[in-house]
Formats: sequence, structure tokens, C-alpha cells
Amino acid sequence: MKTVDQIVRAMTLDEKIALIAGKNFWQMEGVPSAGLEQIMLTDGPHGLRKQAAASDHLGLNESVPSTCFPPACLMASSWDEGVTRSVGEAMGEECVAEEVSIILGPGVNIKRSPLCGRNFEYYSEDPYLAGKLASGLIRGVESKGIGTSLKHFAANNQERFRLAGNSVVDERALREIYLKPFEIAVREGNPSTVMCSYNRINNVYSAVNRWLLTDVLREEWGFDGFVMTDWGAMSDRVEALRAGLDLEMPGPAKENAAKVRAALEDGSLSMDELDTCVRRLVSFILKAEKVEKKAYSIDAHHKTARDAAASSFVLLENDGALPLKKEGSYALIGSLAEHIRYQGAGSSKINPNRVDTIRDLFPHCSYAEGYDPVTGETSDRMIADAVAACRGKTAAIVVVGLPDSYESEGFDRTSMDLPQGHVKLVDSLLDEGIPVIAVLLSGAPVTLPFRHRVNAMLLCYLGGEALGSALESVLTGMVNPSGKLPETFPLRLEDNPSYGNFASDDRNVLYKESIFVGYRWYDYKNLPVAYEFGYGLSYTDFEYSRLSISSDAVSFTVKNTGECAGDEVVQLYTGLPSSRIVRPVRELRGFEKIHLEAGEEKQVVLPLNRDCFTYYDVVTKSFEVEEGEYEISIGASSRDLRLKGLLHVDGTREPHVRGNIADFASLFDGSLPLIEETGCIDMNTTVADALKTPGGKEVLGPVARMMDETYSGDDTVSRMMKAMVYEMPIRGLWMSQVENFSVDDTLKRINDINSRK
Ligand code: BGC
Repeated sequence: MKTVDQIVRAMTLDEKIALIAGKNFWQMEGVPSAGLEQIMLTDGPHGLRKQAAASDHLGLNESVPSTCFPPACLMASSWDEGVTRSVGEAMGEECVAEEVSIILGPGVNIKRSPLCGRNFEYYSEDPYLAGKLASGLIRGVESKGIGTSLKHFAANNQERFRLAGNSVVDERALREIYLKPFEIAVREGNPSTVMCSYNRINNVYSAVNRWLLTDVLREEWGFDGFVMTDWGAMSDRVEALRAGLDLEMPGPAKENAAKVRAALEDGSLSMDELDTCVRRLVSFILKAEKVEKKAYSIDAHHKTARDAAASSFVLLENDGALPLKKEGSYALIGSLAEHIRYQGAGSSKINPNRVDTIRDLFPHCSYAEGYDPVTGETSDRMIADAVAACRGKTAAIVVVGLPDSYESEGFDRTSMDLPQGHVKLVDSLLDEGIPVIAVLLSGAPVTLPFRHRVNAMLLCYLGGEALGSALESVLTGMVNPSGKLPETFPLRLEDNPSYGNFASDDRNVLYKESIFVGYRWYDYKNLPVAYEFGYGLSYTDFEYSRLSISSDAVSFTVKNTGECAGDEVVQLYTGLPSSRIVRPVRELRGFEKIHLEAGEEKQVVLPLNRDCFTYYDVVTKSFEVEEGEYEISIGASSRDLRLKGLLHVDGTREPHVRGNIADFASLFDGSLPLIEETGCIDMNTTVADALKTPGGKEVLGPVARMMDETYSGDDTVSRMMKAMVYEMPIRGLWMSQVENFSVDDTLKRINDINSRK
């Protein structure tokens, strides 16, 4: 067997240049001189989206059937690395069976706003939780010899302008919040690849960000895999090579290949720089070659999907209506019970092996649709039918949530509200005196005006293909719910710290709240919330006692004081009230899910280490520990802190921060890194902006008209496609299947016309 170096030495220049871009939409090039075959990559992140025929990166065309595991929004509520690991192992096995070498995920972008259209693909508002759970998934997949692609690196937290936006984030917030989940996942999960994001960070596109891709990712964190672009995220190919970006996807990238060749010829790029990337790609291909095809069990994976979902649902309210009573009889209301929403729209959309709907699992219940499944609207007749279906029943199980058209890759929501029809339905049933058990299907927080009136409410997020059977097991009490919220449910959108600075019409997205994201903000401002980070009820109760804190561990006892077995997620938070710098009141630094039989008690020991106390110091350029009396809290949620103690920790007495958070520019020494408006149309100008010029209108007008005609509706696909194309930089247009598209020619034509007019 030849070594990587031997193979690279024997490769021709053509082979090397071909290898650094995709062969097509889903394959890498092979290395013919070394007999290495092309390998396949597919989405991700909650199952395999392998497209055998027509390809796309928005989940529009068919893909081969595979298990649709719960999307990250639900898996995150498990607070259990064991859950993400087992899902990862199963996904790895499906890759092995389908001869896919890399699955594109997990996505660990922080949920900065509840409105991000893609929140369902991400884990949490907290970097520690996101990083830990993603590490579990990565280890699971990679244990099968399959690569993962940790994405979208980095600060890609909204869909608006996702291809052309500029995330303006101060250094401390980047390090403590936005890069942290990547850091944990790289250090602990060790993914084979990382996918760079579309956006710019502080005015530098991720694909060409040497600081991000080399200094931080490789040199600081020790990443030794390869970096690929998100689909169409390449800006300047030669600069990207120097920055540490190895693979451009999709391919083939003919114009960029010519640019790389020219740069080698004129000496602006060295063969060593090219070889460094080629070496990383060849090493992975060699590893992938060793994996042998093997079938997987569809039944076993369906069960994995079910178990993962059942241990993640979050019980938000319960006055004893749940679990369902054996002697009770129930009505099932809401067309989402039949047309269940179990995954989000876009590139992660799986063609599931099978789907357990809710309605199928509750055949003995009377049923009424309650509202239109697509629009979410209700009518007097629908409500009357629902009331009739509840006559003589113990309670109504009412399924509400967001229809597909509300959340998708490509665009963000504009409100946190449920469809009015869903709210009206629930209110009407309650007004009739009917006990309501609400089941909530949505990929992100919504406002729940009826939350204090319903008798019980179970949040299922988007549950994957086994949603129905998992729900049955939890509603009937076969499984005791143990999920906890991986994000805050604010009372109002206006309370969210990114409010006013999220998905606006400005391509510069100012992260003015800095480190105060999610509960860090609500706690700092002492704001009331609907449900706090880490919250979730159980059918049993847990009592915490006997706290003891030493310099390297916290130990305490948890007792199940109720009548049934259950799992509890114990959470460790630390804070430094006397800090010399501004800091969150408390931050999650550890957690564990424990199982307790009824009446059983256990001693839990959570480790304490340096990472439990750090902040990012902008002068020493590293995570530092500040000396002081730390408050150590053990909680059943971030606001239900059951045990508290103090620990003195040695460290620096001179922590440094830059500026102050109330004055955003001061965090950047006065000058914000905004996009410079040159007035010229270049490869990074969006189609929408180019269309405002005469040249753009003439050259790109036909493409725009074709788009408008093909996607004239207000459905998910039309909104996604329009956002995609209009907000796309011109350099990405070739991916939209415009025939013989050349970026350079297009720019030249536009600018020629503009200079004449
Ligand atoms: C998404 C990625 C995805 C890729 C390939 C992009 O639009 O942002 O998450 O992996 O397409 O489908």
C-alpha cells in the first residue's frame, strides 16, 4: 500500500487541480494514477439524503429511502451524548450500506434567535450543550469508518442573506459563544471534515478566512482533517487554498481550476500550498477506501429513531392529565396528527424508510382535523366537528404546531406565533370545558398563549420518522418523559437579545448582544420567560441533597421520590458574582442524565476542571480563569437551582475585555468591520443588487424572470428558491444550472453595459 506522500508525489498537476473540487454535486474526484476511486458525500445531518439521480442542495429531488432520525432540535432535548452517539452509529451504518463516505453534519450553529429558519437543524443556544451532543454524534458516525462534516463554520445564524451576509461579532462573543461548540466538537469528536459557512465573519468570507481555517481550527484546536465549502460558498479559490480550504463543493469548478493553474504559473501560489490540501484529501480517500459495504437493519434503525425521540420529548405542563389513563377515552384533534411534521424543509430533508403518524397509533380515538394542514386556518365547522369528536371523552389530545411553510432552510420566520387557527382551536375546546393535552410539533420556540389553560403540553419538536410511536410510548407512560429544553422559550420575541438586529434588510448583521445569547441574556436582565433553558417535567419527582464541592468535583444525591421510574438531567452551572468584568450570571458547565427507579437514590459526581470557570481574554488571546469565589449551582433547569455552594478558584486578577457591550463599536476598538460598498458589480454582489443596475437587468434579467415564473407561489419551495437565487452572489449562479455560465464573462458583460450607461 502506497503512503499519502508517495501518492501525492506521483500525481499529475491535472489530477491535483481536479481533486480540490468536486467531480459533481455529490462526489469527490478520484486519483486515477493511484487507482483511487471517487467517493460520495451526502446530507445530513439527521439521516442520509443520497440522491441517485437529479441532484440539488435544497432537498427538492428524490433521494434513496433512509431512516429519518429526529432532527437536532429534538435530539438536543435528550441532553444525552449516548442518544446522539447511537443515532450517529446508525447513520454511519446507513452510509456503509449506501457506499457514502461522508455525511454532511452535524450542524452546531448557535440559536441566536428563535426565528432562524434552520434552527431545527441545530442543537442549542448554549455552546457547551451543542458541542457535547454533536461530539457524541460525530463519534458514533466515525466509529463506522465514515466521515462527518461539522458545519457551518462559523457564525451562520440566520437564513436571510445567508450567502452574502456579514456576521459582525466581537472576538469574545465569537470565542465564548459562536466558535465554542465547534471547538468542543473538534477536540472531543474529532470529525474528519469541517464545512465552512457561506457568510462573512467581520467582513471576511469563511472560505478565505485563514485565521478561522488555519490559525484557530488547525493550529489551536489540532484539527487534522480537511475543510470543504458549503455548496457554493467558494469566494476566491486561490486565496481559499492559502487559507486552508481544501475542497470546493460542488464541482467541477472549471473557472477556478484555471485560476489555480495561473496562480501556480505566476508564482502567487506555491506547489507546496496546493500539495498541503491535496495531501489532506488523499489521506481521507485512503481511509474511506477501507470501508466495506454492509446492509443495515431498517427495523433496528427505526427503533433507534423511536428511542431517541421518546427520550427527548419535553413535558412542558401537566396537571395529572398525563400519562393517559387506561380507563380513559380520548379524542385526537388536529390534522398534524395525520400529516405529521417530523422534519424540516431544505437540504436535510430525508426520504424516510417508513413513517409512524400519530393518527395511526391512536386508532381508538375519535378524530377531527381541527384546521387545514397547509395553511393552519380553522373554521366554525372544523371547530364544531372537533367539539363533537370530544363529546363523552376524558380529554382531547390536540396536535398543534408549525406547518412546513413556516420554517425552512432559505428563509427565517418573522414571528414566533403559531397559526391563529391552531390557537383558536385550542381556546375553543377549552372554552367548552374540554380538558386539553396539547402536543406541539415545531422546530423552534413559539408563543403559547394557552399554556396556563391546557391540562398538559408535550413538546415534540420535529420527531423524525418514528414520531407517532415514540409519542404513544410517552403519552401512555410506557416511557417517562425526560427531555429538557436546549433553548429558552421567551414570552415575547421582543425579549430576545437579537431583536432588531436579526434578519433585517442590512447584509451586515450586528451581533450587538455579544456574549449575552439565550439564557445568558434573560438571566442577566432577570426577564421572565415562558420556559427557561434546561426546563422539562417528568411523571415523577426528584429530590436533590447532600452537596459537596471540592476543587475537582461536585457531588450530590438525587432521589426519585415519586411512584414510577424516571430519568433526570442534572445540570451544573457556574458563575462569578464578584467578577471584575461583565459576565453571564451563570453558564452551563456540565450535565448528566441519570436513571432512577421509584424510591431509588444515587450519588452523582460531576467533574470540575479549568474549563468550568473560563472567560475569553482579548489581551492574552486565550481562555483564562479569573480568581474569585465561584457560585456552583446544581439545577433541574437553569432557573430551578436545587443546590448551591461556593468554591474559591485561583487565577488571574486582571481579566481583560475590549470596550463595553452597551457601545457595540467599542468592542471593535471603534471601527466596525462592515461590507465596503464599492459601487462596482463584482463576484460577491448579490443577484438582487446587480439587478438594480442596467447591466444587471440586461444580463441577469432572463434568469430572474425564469425564476419568478417557475416559483411564483408562496409555498416553501418557491420562497426558498427565490431567497436562494436573489440573495446569491453572482459567483454562485453556476450552481443554479444556468447553462455554460461563466462568472468572469457575466461580470464583464454587466460592467461593460453599466460603464456605457
Ligand atoms: C446547505 C448545507 C448542505 C449543502 C448540501 C447547503 O445549501 O447549507 O448544509 O450540506 O447545501 O446540500
